[in-house]
Amino acid sequence: MAVIHNGIIENFQRLRTELEQSGVVLESETDTEIVAHLIAHILPELNNDLPKAMQSVCSRLEGAFTLVVIDRDQPDLVVGARRNSPLVVGLGTDGNFLASDVAAFVEHTKDALELGQDQIVILRADSVEVTDFSGNPVEPKPFTIDWDTSAAEKGGHDLFMLKEIYEQPKAVKDSLLGRIDESHRITLDELNIDPLVLREINKVIVVACGTAAHAGMLAKYAIEHWTHLPVDVELASEFRYRDPIVGPDALVIAISQSGETMDTLMALRYAKEQGARTLAICNTVGSTIPRESDAVIYTYAGPEIAVASTKAFLTQITATYLVGLFLAQVRGSMFEDEIRSVLADLNDMSQKVDLVLDTAEPVRALARELANARSVLFLGRHVGYPVALEGALKLKELAYMHAEGFPAGELKHGPIALIEEGIPVVVIVPSPRGRAVLHDKIVSNIQEVRARGALVIAIAEEGDESIVPFADHIIRIPAVPTLMQPLVAVVPLQIFACEMATVKGHDVDQPRNLAKSVTVE
Ligand code: F6R
Repeated sequence: MAVIHNGIIENFQRLRTELEQSGVVLESETDTEIVAHLIAHILPELNNDLPKAMQSVCSRLEGAFTLVVIDRDQPDLVVGARRNSPLVVGLGTDGNFLASDVAAFVEHTKDALELGQDQIVILRADSVEVTDFSGNPVEPKPFTIDWDTSAAEKGGHDLFMLKEIYEQPKAVKDSLLGRIDESHRITLDELNIDPLVLREINKVIVVACGTAAHAGMLAKYAIEHWTHLPVDVELASEFRYRDPIVGPDALVIAISQSGETMDTLMALRYAKEQGARTLAICNTVGSTIPRESDAVIYTYAGPEIAVASTKAFLTQITATYLVGLFLAQVRGSMFEDEIRSVLADLNDMSQKVDLVLDTAEPVRALARELANARSVLFLGRHVGYPVALEGALKLKELAYMHAEGFPAGELKHGPIALIEEGIPVVVIVPSPRGRAVLHDKIVSNIQEVRARGALVIAIAEEGDESIVPFADHIIRIPAVPTLMQPLVAVVPLQIFACEMATVKGHDVDQPRNLAKSVTVE
């Protein structure tokens, strides 16, 4: 018998003791092994009926899990089960597929079935049956995957991550398609929340993890600026374990590329229980988070296969900005011409990101030069701060280097003690045309770290000559309005981390210890 298991079985200790008491010798400490033994134990009593054995065992399991089981003696049969973890079925012409994400089988078929909670799938080469955990038949929901097959290929790049970085201009553009009408108003038809309700909400809460949470932080700057609504950004893993003030007057936005991140899903469920309106910003059609939200805005990044998120991040920013502008439109907090002007800026971003990609070689050269650094710090102010966090996260997860992102103003409250001779400090420099004070302040911060020996790499806009005397290296990005800057400023940081990891010989697409969908809490 072979078992594949994703998730955590929370009552496994109790089940383990039970198995041991009945004489089973376990060879590992894993919760997965007990599933194999539980099934093997009960199978003979059920006339070797594997689906029935799976039903019986799943009814006893607590926690979140996807299970797939095969029995050596029934090689034409695969039985899968899901509770809270993802599992989708692919319907092929000469065989069927089970995977946690459609990306795994999209090159073979685009016809798929959604499985619900607590369901079992009985898969043979020519048939698929679905039941609940009690064995009652269930009609699964069919859907068609609308990605083209090249999505599952590297398209001439060595790495999925590089391919996805280069797909960012298209991803941003696609995420705007059909959402701005001829009179330059935002039409979010899929947002089926009554405008009256949107007029009445008193606060916005964003829940997300990792890179998606960084997109959420950026949404805060934009949405507060455009709507004057307070926006809280919460790491989903922390949200429901304190006593967040969330009720019917809140719009809770869950941002997730995969739509399956357990922490985000749990935060969303908590918010729903408290009566909040929920909106998912998600990249994966049919995944759990959008299914359980009142409304969904899909990001059209296409499948993101590299574990490190890149194009999804840019589309999450784009989508949250659209939501912010839509709220402003519905609530009348901005003039129509102001909204039009921001939309025009957003529309230009695809082309601006393209420009960054065309001039990326110096970033790669710099990564190679700094490959032996022990640690890299990232500083930003205002919208540059989430970008600094994202730059540091990319470097940690891909190059396995110590990296930290700080708000530059916090330096003097502690982090400046980290500055030592030669330490690379990447600074996201605000546009001098935005709030001049932010630019001036960051120049002072640069001087502070430089005076202590730091090697300063400034990410600064074209034409900002005032930064030249203060930086050891300057990476130029196009001059864009302040709130748009993250979309161009993060791209060199993605390339920097990707190149650094490549130089170090790491597996960029599948960094150690990480999974693309984090389906456990
Ligand atoms: C970092 C990264 C993760 C994800 C996080 C949330 O590169 O990919 O930090 O952003 O695990 O994942 P989603 O967006 O699928 O909820």
